[in-house]
Amino acid sequence: MARKPKTAAANVDIRKGLDGVVVDTTAVSRVVPETNSLTYRGYAVQDLAAQCSFEEVAYLLWNGELPTRSQLAAFRRDERSRREISKDHIAVIRRFPKDAHPMDTIRTAVSYLGATEVAWGGGKLEEDRRRAMDLLAKIPTMIATDYRLRHGKRRIAPRGDLSMSENFFHMCFGTVPPPEVIRAFDISLILYAEHSFNASTFAARVVSSTMSDIYSAAVGGIAALKGPLHGGANEAVMHMLLEIGHPKKAEPWLRKAFRDRKLVMGFGHRVYKWGDSRVPTMRKCLHDLAAWKKDERWVEIEDVLAQIMVDEKGIHPNLDFPAGPAYYMMGFDIDLFTPIFVMSRITGWTAHIMEQSADNRLIRPLSTYTGRDQREIPPISKR
Ligand code: COA
Repeated sequence: MARKPKTAAANVDIRKGLDGVVVDTTAVSRVVPETNSLTYRGYAVQDLAAQCSFEEVAYLLWNGELPTRSQLAAFRRDERSRREISKDHIAVIRRFPKDAHPMDTIRTAVSYLGATEVAWGGGKLEEDRRRAMDLLAKIPTMIATDYRLRHGKRRIAPRGDLSMSENFFHMCFGTVPPPEVIRAFDISLILYAEHSFNASTFAARVVSSTMSDIYSAAVGGIAALKGPLHGGANEAVMHMLLEIGHPKKAEPWLRKAFRDRKLVMGFGHRVYKWGDSRVPTMRKCLHDLAAWKKDERWVEIEDVLAQIMVDEKGIHPNLDFPAGPAYYMMGFDIDLFTPIFVMSRITGWTAHIMEQSADNRLIRPLSTYTGRDQREIPPISKR
């Protein structure tokens, strides 16, 4: 697929959407579109998904190396000890409108955490590491609390004897599903955790570059992730699949979408133009879930859409394409899909926020002005 041309204005090359612009260095992750490869701190994401837990990947993103057994045990103890949120925080979440989108409530709930933040002492990096852990531990509790309360159900407190993925199901549904479902969920969190200078990470880095705090930067990331061109696509994919409804309707639906020049959600990517490196791993999870649920409908619809999109348009599916129906089959409400993405991506955002702070320069690009020439203000009687 051809890249959009640059816009030339006043002899300045403007890259709309910063397409192809390199704005900084990072040691957190690397995307190589030519080989469909994504590495976190040098490890291939599909290898991490196959061999590690989400907690190990969070440790890796923050520390640059995978944890030893004892480092992992300490990391898990710390994360589990921070899961509970305060009574005041619960009361704030209880007051959110029941029909507000959960992305709006999690954005506000994270902001509240920032407003009630205590100083722990130590240097900024040390403090930010603790705050990052606090965000990682508490965001699932905020999401699950909001989910239960909006459904008029009793809140379920976090459990300290469960993994992050197990505990999230426990807090949402009061039960923990079979290990293969937990593993699929954990893998989705690993795949969603980090993706270099994507829109939400860049937004978080811009906020951080003003020397604002880590919570404000995380809120900026959540705000950017919400949009359907970014994280919101996993929800949009499921709405699209429900609208299609049956594998036999997939092709006519897609042909009409082409005629109407509609975006097909879950396809395309700013960086990957020959396929998203995370898709095969998540697709395998989706197939396993379909077998577990004895419901192949969503897989079959997706197969038809993917075949035609790739063959005829050369546009490949992205991670949201298999992740949306996977979360649906796990039993989550569609509007929880992007908040689940937040639970995961908070690791990448905070790794980038700390990287930005360690070598900061205010991010402040330029623009080419296309408005009116300078002019006098006319008296009000002559406007
Ligand atoms: N459905 C239909 N056409 C698509 C498409 C999609 N999902 N994604 C890209 N295209 C088309 C564009 O319309 C454009 O066609 P044109 O050249 O005739 O105008 C061409 O492919 C190039 O795409 P472009 O808009 O330059 O890509 P981008 O890098 O600006 O946008 C996305 C990338 C992700 C925003 C875009 O692919 C998209 O909107 N996808 C759907 C939302 C989604 O799944 N987002 C999650 C991303 S992980």
